[in-house]
Amino acid sequence: MIKEINILNGSKNEVTDAESLKQLEFINKAKEYVSELEKNLGRKPTACVVTFGCQMNARDSEKLVAILKLVGYEESESENSDFVIYNTCTVRDNADQRVLGRLGACSNHKKKNPHMKIAICGCMMQEQSAVEKIQKSYRFVDLIFGTHNIYKFAELLCTCFESDRMIIDIWKETDKIVEDLPVLRKYPFKSGVNIMYGCNNFCTYCIVPYVRGRERSRSPKDIIRECEKLAADGVKEVMLLGQNVNSYGLDFKDDNPDKISFPELIEEVCKVEGLERVRFMTPHPKDFSDELLDVIERNPKIARHIHLPLQSGSTEILRRMNRKYTKDAYLELVNKIRTKLPEVAITTDIIVGFPGESREDVDETIDVVKKAEFDNAFTFIYSKRTGTPAASFEDQVPEDVVKENFDRLLKVVQETARKQSEKYTGSVAKVLVEEVNDHDSSLLTGRMSNNSLVHFPGNEELIGEIVEVSLDECHGFYFTGHKC
Ligand code: 5AD
Ligand code: SF4
Repeated sequence: MIKEINILNGSKNEVTDAESLKQLEFINKAKEYVSELEKNLGRKPTACVVTFGCQMNARDSEKLVAILKLVGYEESESENSDFVIYNTCTVRDNADQRVLGRLGACSNHKKKNPHMKIAICGCMMQEQSAVEKIQKSYRFVDLIFGTHNIYKFAELLCTCFESDRMIIDIWKETDKIVEDLPVLRKYPFKSGVNIMYGCNNFCTYCIVPYVRGRERSRSPKDIIRECEKLAADGVKEVMLLGQNVNSYGLDFKDDNPDKISFPELIEEVCKVEGLERVRFMTPHPKDFSDELLDVIERNPKIARHIHLPLQSGSTEILRRMNRKYTKDAYLELVNKIRTKLPEVAITTDIIVGFPGESREDVDETIDVVKKAEFDNAFTFIYSKRTGTPAASFEDQVPEDVVKENFDRLLKVVQETARKQSEKYTGSVAKVLVEEVNDHDSSLLTGRMSNNSLVHFPGNEELIGEIVEVSLDECHGFYFTGHKC
């Protein structure tokens, strides 16, 4: 017996604006199904969204939560809920393993609650081998979908209620963007805003271009309209999101009257009344223009934080990674930023153990960390992703060598980060208050413009406000202080 319903497995799918309306109809239909379930259970059904990976995924999860709440589920943190959905990441293998572990544990809940529905979506599901694994070994999963069709979640939810088969809906690619759907923000005062999807860079280690597709920029008018709506709704800080934000707009045709560059877009976003901070994530060093630096300099609303992924400090490894810059060009860019914008914190991503990486290559990376004086760095062990060019490079580095190089690098990263933070001790910073501290409820936790965390005594009424805090003590990655 065929157990799966394979709704669509094609390539390009035309999605029109009418699609948003169609999805709203599915939301109404799903409401009826959930209300029926509520009657049967004698209580409100619960739903849990588990998110892995980057800010783009976090934003997608906010869309999933919105639909689930709208159709009548109560949001829950527990994976023993009536509906559980895993929004996956596949950038590194350990992310895949974590999802599969959690999924396995979730099946035990389903044995006790057969009405429970389990769904899995996101980047990992854009890989055929991962979907095949779920089909074969995780038969209790009810719904699988990918990154390109997340907007039709309400429709898929309805199909899920109408069938007890495993539903699979993966699109290989798309050239359309559907945005006008409900979103429920995790924080009322800050929000991500997708400005583009996909990536055209094809760094040789990276799976993202294969699972997120080609670059597609949203129209500037839609982005500004979304920012205005968010500001009217009390949002003070937006983060403009894209896999490679400074490629924004490059995919617009030359005769498109809306064609603008990323620096022009961010300057327009700064003009939105009510927004007090504008962040962006992630720029690529090869596309970081002087124009962008000028825009940051003249717009105090733009956060004093630039995340600038280095990946490696060795020019030869950078060439093999297809990063399209050299060690010297990267350092020159950092120098330009530090000279023009001395108050900006620079953070980075570094991969250790890329095929062919020698001890001397890692020394080059350590040299860049010291010279760039990174305020923080995320260090990753290279993970071989099937289908990427680097996966078939012959000179994979043995695990023990990678581990030793990783530890050497981490030590320098931590020393540099601590030294960088310490220089702010004793100063006063504007802090956006985010929440009551997890460990001590008399403290509030907030973020400075340069993204540093600050804990200070205060009342929870201040959550969502920007307040001035004196930075009394530096504890490496965070400060403690008091409100001025
Ligand atoms: N192995 C290890 N790290 C990776 N990254 C991307 N692909 C891989 C991989 N195959 C890291 C890069 C990127 C960050 C989001 O994840 O450093 O900037
Ligand atoms: Fe991956 Fe490179 Fe694109 Fe970043 S720029 S998403 S590392 S391919």
